[in-house]
Amino acid sequence: MTFQLFCKWIESSTLGAGVKNSIWIFPVVESIHILAIVLLAFTAAMIDLRLLGVGFLRRRPVAEVARQLTPWMWRAIVLLILTGIALFSSEAASKCYDSQAFYIKMALIAVAIVNAAIAGAIIRRHADEWDSRRSAPFGAKMMAVVSLVAWAGVVFAGRGIAYF
Ligand code: HEM
Repeated sequence: MTFQLFCKWIESSTLGAGVKNSIWIFPVVESIHILAIVLLAFTAAMIDLRLLGVGFLRRRPVAEVARQLTPWMWRAIVLLILTGIALFSSEAASKCYDSQAFYIKMALIAVAIVNAAIAGAIIRRHADEWDSRRSAPFGAKMMAVVSLVAWAGVVFAGRGIAYF
């Protein structure tokens, strides 16, 4: 099955047609999508800024900040993927298939999620050592920059789906 045929199938499916033909489901789902973006943006940015040694959590141990915020970051990502699939299903063939912004967004989401998974594993193993040294190593700071840039790119591309 080609991606184009998949898009036509999912848009005519019970899910796609249900979201598309309802006057309130799409706006409600997109509002939940946006609230999940706020939760993701807050949790990811607070962890990244802590790794960079800036922000109002800069004196808190990295291990503590990551332990408290990482579960909420992943809950936001799961909620974004679930609501995103519902939004996508309603306009897969009629909008997303021909939208460059959609493909850019999916690629950036893949980069951001792989980066978050690797960074999470490294933080769990080494954060205590960094806290005793009072600074995260260069590699961890670079992963924080990749995270900030990739998630910001996802938001711009997400908004761009309506335009290109
Ligand atoms: C995981 C992180 C994600 C972020 C940060 C994100 C961000 C966004 C943003 C900022 C918008 C525009 C909202 C608006 O202007 O009202 C949006 C809309 C949308 N997103 Fe996502 N999204 C994510 C995941 C997904 C996924 C996984 C999918 C699909 C599988 C998806 C599909 C869509 C669709 C179809 C729209 C509506 C576009 C439109 O018709 O205007 N999103 N998203």
